[in-house]
Amino acid sequence: MSDVTPFWIAGTPAHGQQPLEVTHPLDGTSVGRTTYAEPEQVEAAVDAAHSARHQTAALPVHVRSGALDQVARRIIARSEELARLITAENGKPIRWARAEVSRAAAVFRLAGENARTWSGEVQRLDTESAAEGRLAYTVRVPRGPVLAITPFNFPLNLVAHKVAPAIAVGAPVVIKPAPKTPLSALLLGELLAQTSLPPGAVSVINVPDDTAPDLVADPRLPVVSFTGSGPVGASIRAAVPQKHVTLELGGNAAVVVCADWSDISCAADRIATFANYQGGQSCVGVQRVYVERSRLHELRSAIVAAVESLGVGDPADEATHVGPLITVEAAQRVESWVQEAVDAGARVLTGGRRDGSTYAPTVLEDVPVDAKVSCEEVFGPVLLIHPVDSVDEALALVNDSRYGLQAGVFTHDLRTAFRAHRELEVGGVVIGDVPSYRADQMPYGGTKDSGEGREGVRYAMSDFTYDRVMVLTGLPL
Ligand code: SIN
Repeated sequence: MSDVTPFWIAGTPAHGQQPLEVTHPLDGTSVGRTTYAEPEQVEAAVDAAHSARHQTAALPVHVRSGALDQVARRIIARSEELARLITAENGKPIRWARAEVSRAAAVFRLAGENARTWSGEVQRLDTESAAEGRLAYTVRVPRGPVLAITPFNFPLNLVAHKVAPAIAVGAPVVIKPAPKTPLSALLLGELLAQTSLPPGAVSVINVPDDTAPDLVADPRLPVVSFTGSGPVGASIRAAVPQKHVTLELGGNAAVVVCADWSDISCAADRIATFANYQGGQSCVGVQRVYVERSRLHELRSAIVAAVESLGVGDPADEATHVGPLITVEAAQRVESWVQEAVDAGARVLTGGRRDGSTYAPTVLEDVPVDAKVSCEEVFGPVLLIHPVDSVDEALALVNDSRYGLQAGVFTHDLRTAFRAHRELEVGGVVIGDVPSYRADQMPYGGTKDSGEGREGVRYAMSDFTYDRVMVLTGLPL
């Protein structure tokens, strides 16, 4: 079993009977082997989390923050190994895999810092004569063990965004990584097992997607934190209405380029890069570009030139910007969506070709608003350019979507910035840049079909907890 990566049940390595072969998205070669947990092993992980809940809630802050700091340091110490693992199992270009590892270390560091300042508050209640001598002491306590279901596109950092805040507030967590990309989460499980957290605090188990509903339904896991597709998120929401559910779902992120923006070349570079980073497999990757007509010509040629300059190919190559999609089927789906748009009148300005699991970075214009590449989440390296006659029209088009995750607005006009922030129906508006910006401490999440609840270290800590008040009476205040 030495070449088979273990999963982690309550801090102990374990193997199941059913193999899980992890393959490279570029060429299908094997990059590692692990196993699925047997039903009794899943039961052991859930039972350990449930049994540990009082112990983790009572853990001294220095133990929680010490463990979080230790994991942050260990991630940095093993950063190149982790980055290469992400690239191998996900196909993410090594430059982006390194960025993901450094963000994951920051998430653990931020969680350690926030754990130290995560305190209760005290309120005098003697504002009314009936409450003389009374004081309220309020702390946020864990809702209970967290089930964390994580996606393939950030196989390390989106795990970090669930496990680190859970540890910070003293909630046990059972992690189910994406079966296509479990290896980075399992390595993180190893780093977590080396801390002095109690054994039941963290389990990382491989569970097939089709048996995940049993875990979701388990009453011993009262919090479900899910990042992934809209249909799966909706099925979780419907299956467990009594649970606290956080859903980070898709998006078809838009950017507005206003006529006043001075540096079109810089905007074009940012748009080209962030429509295609990770093969477009990010919920906040640029998909729709709305540009005021007076700047259309300039922006369009700068975007096409910038897209054509991106290196496409082997994700392990330092020069590669755009690697493969996660599977050949994913690339075929993108291909069929582009074809659908072309059949409906869209023009391909560059790209529009598939080679196995790799789809060429593609720029489209004249895309009908009801084409899937416009109104659904493309999750591939495809962007569309659409001229508008006013900022009003641009903001209306950004909102004309069932998604609402993030938007970007290139403007120097503060009034436009504030107006966009007020009117856009999204979780975040980035001024002077693309929507694909996420600092790990800021609130991150969507409205409409993009989900509910917020991540971002302190926001996830709030999400995993509720206020519990203790009223003290008879005090000589
Ligand atoms: C996502 O694709 O939802 C995550 C984006 C990020 O963390 O940068």
